[in-house]
Amino acid sequence: MIKTYKSIRGTYDFNPDEASLFNKIAEKGRHVLAVYGYEEIILPVLEEEGVFIRSVGETTDIVEKQIFRIAKRTEADSDIVLRPEGTAQVVRFFLEHALHKQSDFHKFSYIGPMFRGERPQKGRLRQFHHIGAEAIGSDSIFLDAEMISMSLKILDEIGIAERKLHINTLGCQADKEKFMSLLKKDLSERRSELCDDCKRRLEKNPLRILDCKEEHCKKIAASFCQTETSGKGYLCDDCKNKFQELLKLLESLNIAYIHNPCLVRGLDYYTNTVFEIKSESLGSQDAIGAGGRYNNLIKNLGGPEIPACGFALGVERIILALNKKEEPPKPDVFMAVIGENLREESFRLLQSLRDAGVHCDMDYCAKSLKGQLRYAEKKGIKLVILLADEEYKQGLVILKDMETSEQEKVKKEDIIDTVRGAIADGEGIA
Ligand code: HAM
Repeated sequence: MIKTYKSIRGTYDFNPDEASLFNKIAEKGRHVLAVYGYEEIILPVLEEEGVFIRSVGETTDIVEKQIFRIAKRTEADSDIVLRPEGTAQVVRFFLEHALHKQSDFHKFSYIGPMFRGERPQKGRLRQFHHIGAEAIGSDSIFLDAEMISMSLKILDEIGIAERKLHINTLGCQADKEKFMSLLKKDLSERRSELCDDCKRRLEKNPLRILDCKEEHCKKIAASFCQTETSGKGYLCDDCKNKFQELLKLLESLNIAYIHNPCLVRGLDYYTNTVFEIKSESLGSQDAIGAGGRYNNLIKNLGGPEIPACGFALGVERIILALNKKEEPPKPDVFMAVIGENLREESFRLLQSLRDAGVHCDMDYCAKSLKGQLRYAEKKGIKLVILLADEEYKQGLVILKDMETSEQEKVKKEDIIDTVRGAIADGEGIA
């Protein structure tokens, strides 16, 4: 027996309806990103592993458990992986081309697939798509506010009204370290209650305990956050003031937010502002998008000290939250023939219509006239051009309106203009 194949678990086949919706979402995203002044880049899905180890962090779930490694083809190959996210990659691109020497400020956007070897479930895939933006070269809170307002604007345009913005600040690197040592001190007393992963995290990277999915660890982490961070004792005055200013700015833009002191995000590169947009309709994988500041990442990847900020929205989660279909564009015209001898003529006319930009199609399966008309009707095609021997000899073709069943004879040489007129006024045959 010949083996038949199925798609890889955690990947998704977009059928035509879903692909149409995907493209609409991407189109709306691109429009908003351009309005905000972001320039699109297209980067490879293959990257060197170190880019992510040095940025996302060695002890994060993404790097520890989810990276897809590509087998080396030659000894000279570096350790190649499928990119799990875009931010570190954009920074690699920025540094490789020394863009900071060309200008002190850059805005980039990207749309493309990301890969994480997660345990698949609803809303959690192993290949998914990001619509993202990164702005490099400014520490202004206006940029943080822009990222938040832009990601919400994209969701508005797409039609996702049910979402909540969660926001927090981690403070600068020194604040973050202070926070981590407080966390380590506090949770060391409860070490025996933590899961094995968190026991390890406690030594290597205590912040990651706050992303643990184990219920008991979550409770311990939440109680620490509520007590320790509500007063934000670990924040320096500058970071505290900046965060307050950002919140005020959001209020002045009428952007509702929830200040969530437990929000730290699962990637190590963040400093200061972090945010997540959640939709309750999504169940446990409720983050539809997320972002924040990463003022140390460029330096950590070997560049100068340059502040930056960004976000990414998950396209598949947007589709889940929308819960609707988008019909793919259908042809306006169908070419039908009576008898085989006019098929070639029909194909040439089809080509002329397509050259004129008319969205049209024909039968490729030698169907009877009845079969051809049934197919056109099923596809919802409004106009049929019918080539029949007798009329064709007189230089005429038949144009049929499938909705009204009206038909008229049109001179061959006039058919393209007649069809374009009928499509343009949307009224079919006059
Ligand atoms: P992230 O939170 O890992 O952030 O991913 C952003 C969004 O991608 C999530 O909110 C979610 O909607 C979607 N997503 C993540 N993992 C999956 C998955 N396994 N299946 C389906 N959707 C998923 C980042 O990647 C950062 N690079 C965002 C950023 C940009 N921060 C600054 N600049």
